[in-house]
Amino acid sequence: MEVRRLRTGVEGLDKLIQGGIPEGFFIAVTGEPGCGKTIFAIHFIYQGVLDNDKSIYVTTEESRESIIKQASQFNMDFEKAIQENKLVVIDALMGREDKWSLQSLDLEALVGRIIEAKRELGYGRARVAIDSISAFWLDKPAMARRYSYYVKKVLSKWNFTTVAISQYAITTSLPYDQPILVRISGEARTVQIGDLVNKLIYGASPWSMEVACLDWKDLKIKWAKPCSVIKHLYSGLIYKIKLQDGREVSVTRDHSLFVVRDGKIKCVPTNEIRIGDYLLVPAKHIDEDKRVGNLIGERLQHVGEYVFSPPRSTGHLLGNNGELGDAKTLRVEDMDVRNVLGVDVYDISVLGLENFIAGVGGVVCHNSEAFGWGIEHIADGIIRFRRSIRSGELKRYVLIEKMRQTNHNRYLHEIDIVSGKGLTILGPVERRREDLSLPKEVFKKMIESRKKAEGEIP
Ligand SMILES: Nc1ncnc2c1ncn2[C@@H]1O[C@H](COP(=O)(O)OP(=O)(O)O)[C@@H](O)[C@H]1O
Ligand SMILES: [Mg+2]
Repeated sequence: MEVRRLRTGVEGLDKLIQGGIPEGFFIAVTGEPGCGKTIFAIHFIYQGVLDNDKSIYVTTEESRESIIKQASQFNMDFEKAIQENKLVVIDALMGREDKWSLQSLDLEALVGRIIEAKRELGYGRARVAIDSISAFWLDKPAMARRYSYYVKKVLSKWNFTTVAISQYAITTSLPYDQPILVRISGEARTVQIGDLVNKLIYGASPWSMEVACLDWKDLKIKWAKPCSVIKHLYSGLIYKIKLQDGREVSVTRDHSLFVVRDGKIKCVPTNEIRIGDYLLVPAKHIDEDKRVGNLIGERLQHVGEYVFSPPRSTGHLLGNNGELGDAKTLRVEDMDVRNVLGVDVYDISVLGLENFIAGVGGVVCHNSEAFGWGIEHIADGIIRFRRSIRSGELKRYVLIEKMRQTNHNRYLHEIDIVSGKGLTILGPVERRREDLSLPKEVFKKMIESRKKAEGEIP
């Protein structure tokens, strides 16, 4: 049976995916800020207008006017399409009272409005871009998977092909010297994240290693195996956050930590964290001197959407069945910001448990599997945008990471954004090994071959 495909409107890109996105698919588009996700979504929707699809653009990051203006810079007339009843732009940012605005970031309300818009546009094939979907669970990252599943299910019933932009991707990171708590061959200790990631990238065996993570289900700190690691060049701000008991953590600007506000746990990019916020930390202090201990007895004050189990302050840090203890919150006392140019930064992803622990004394950092990235697990396709700075110049790239029912291209392609034209594909680039995260399958293979190799040593 032939797969019917929807053109994305980005010519070179359609060629990478056998002509377009299969009809009815739910596609995750992800990448760092400024690398072209919104512009891609604009192309996708305008191509819908041209191809007579019922087209809907949902904007949470910019106003409707801003999207219309951006489109017009690439000669796509959104205004006319709206007037001709071919396009609806749902504005979820401005909170206005008009028919196609959302007053709050509520997913059910959004889905309802999308269906309403489809009714108004008429029968037939439809496409929607949600820019971004992660905005809808900013303050409840653990819900990402369940929410995105719900959206996928409902929209597919209504004949939609969906492009869902996930604002935050595997791009957020820690500088080299950040200590993280690991357990290697049963022994708990802290190591520098850069050291650890480098070893894994260049072939060290990861299978006996675990990192400390937070389990959302019971807010306990547990051990989990990393499933992928990433190292990439970063230019920009690095924030050093100091907590009331002397714990501290340094993270890049867009990295997110968990704060408690209005009685809820929110996942907040570092640049939005303020002195006086409360951060999630392991109840017990993780010593940097490679010992693990030092009970900090403070009790959790803030109970929110996630219900904490009260810290059992008498327990051992390394208790039965490998559990590390509970989570609690500590106040941000001070912050330092410094600017760096072209330094390597590091990230670790963990399956199952969602958030790993880093920094002196331990602070819960979101990991890329969790935040805004829950849609990866249910998406029919993943289009990843990236950016880097080479010789002082901003470069942008795209990689098709997944496209079901499609023999898609598997190379990183450089892209450009051109006035009057929009997104264009320049061509494939040579891959630098350390620039890419290790996909789960690769990681699994690495582990297996390593085991095998070790088994063969007499
Ligand atoms: N008219 C234009 N001409 C050339 N480049 C543009 C134009 N408009 C926007 N851009 C580029 O596109 C970038 C924004 O891309 P966008 O898709 O909004 O990023 P994001 O991935 O954050 O959604 C800008 O930073 C700029 O580099
Ligand atoms: Mg955007």
